[in-house]
Amino acid sequence: MAEASDVFLRAVEITKSYGALHALDRVSLDIARGEFLTLLGPSGSGKTTFLMCLAGFVEATAGRLEEAGVDITQRPAEARRYGMVFQGYALFPHMSVAENVAFPLRVAGMARGARGARVAEMLETVGLAPLGNRRPHQLSGGQQQRVALARALISHPPVLLLDEPLSALDKNLREQMQEEIKSLHRKIGSTFVFVTHDQTEALSMSSRVAIFNHGRVQQIGTPEEVYEHPANRFVAEFLGRINLIPLDQAVVANCRLTGRFEGQELTAPAPKGPLNTPVIAVRPEYMRLSAGPPHQGENGLRARVRARVYGGAQSVLQLTTDSGVEISLDVPSRGEAPSMACGETVWVTWPRDSGFALSGES
Ligand SMILES: Nc1ncnc2c1ncn2[C@@H]1O[C@H](COP(=O)(O)OP(=O)(O)OP(=O)(O)O)[C@@H](O)[C@H]1O
Ligand SMILES: [Mg+2]
Repeated sequence: MAEASDVFLRAVEITKSYGALHALDRVSLDIARGEFLTLLGPSGSGKTTFLMCLAGFVEATAGRLEEAGVDITQRPAEARRYGMVFQGYALFPHMSVAENVAFPLRVAGMARGARGARVAEMLETVGLAPLGNRRPHQLSGGQQQRVALARALISHPPVLLLDEPLSALDKNLREQMQEEIKSLHRKIGSTFVFVTHDQTEALSMSSRVAIFNHGRVQQIGTPEEVYEHPANRFVAEFLGRINLIPLDQAVVANCRLTGRFEGQELTAPAPKGPLNTPVIAVRPEYMRLSAGPPHQGENGLRARVRARVYGGAQSVLQLTTDSGVEISLDVPSRGEAPSMACGETVWVTWPRDSGFALSGES
């Protein structure tokens, strides 16, 4: 959570109900001045609704919003003056690029001469200076997205809200635009709240990530915190592949979970709170195929190779243990490795501190 003095936007117990459905269910979170916060979650988890509440386009059923310590819950959208970029760029088709970007300044009553200089500067910032006279339909998807960004940023909004702005772009363009948005954020220094349901995008772009599910914030933290120390099983599974290993005779002591799995003793660091049917969770990239049983300081299990799925530089090896637990790990597609033929039984090992303990039932 951000230091109290850094907090720019604060949501306190925001609920938005549509009849019996809680699109947002007591969402509390602090957004620091100048941060790049990403809202990540599955479809229908409340991301857009929360963004719309911040913008003032959707009125919360209950709860409070503050900007710099001032209650803005009742402040109308036009008085908040936050910039917004939507998924489908929503450019004016009959206006040129420059006219689209100038539009908010024109609405605000700025004189034509003053507008021209600001627009030229903004088009330069987003790399569209030579294209000011084109119409939106004469631009590529990425260029249109940059016009939408420029239009949202031209009035120097204190907050820029971006709702899945890259989802219509192909992978290469999307990655290029991710870089451009990050560099715009650094250059401009406004507070960015960015929505996506793509976990890689969230982890690579943000200073912090808030993970939503069923209208609730499941966890908020830096990309490393949420990926390496997920608060619960939903977060662990949503942020990437994860192997979940159930334990017999599980005991939590001295912040470690220890128990038995198919005859092997396994252990992992455990959080302080109670765990409900604890399991050991391990990201595939920490697991290795080994020629033999685990060394000191390692965990290990035996499993049968079920399939190998080619994925370019890395392949995914899918394994099944004697009791039917499925394990997946990454192996280099080329190079020497222990035998990985289908049906073969192999050892899988990982450092004891690379896994973590989770409640098996969420
Ligand atoms: N105007 C509305 N009337 C009724 N239900 C609504 C309304 N707006 C949103 N909802 C419901 O609120 C929930 C949250 O919707 P929201 O659009 O915030 O999800 P989201 O996380 O942005 O999803 P997506 O990734 O699909 O855009 C959904 O169940 C949705 O059907
Ligand atoms: Mg949405």
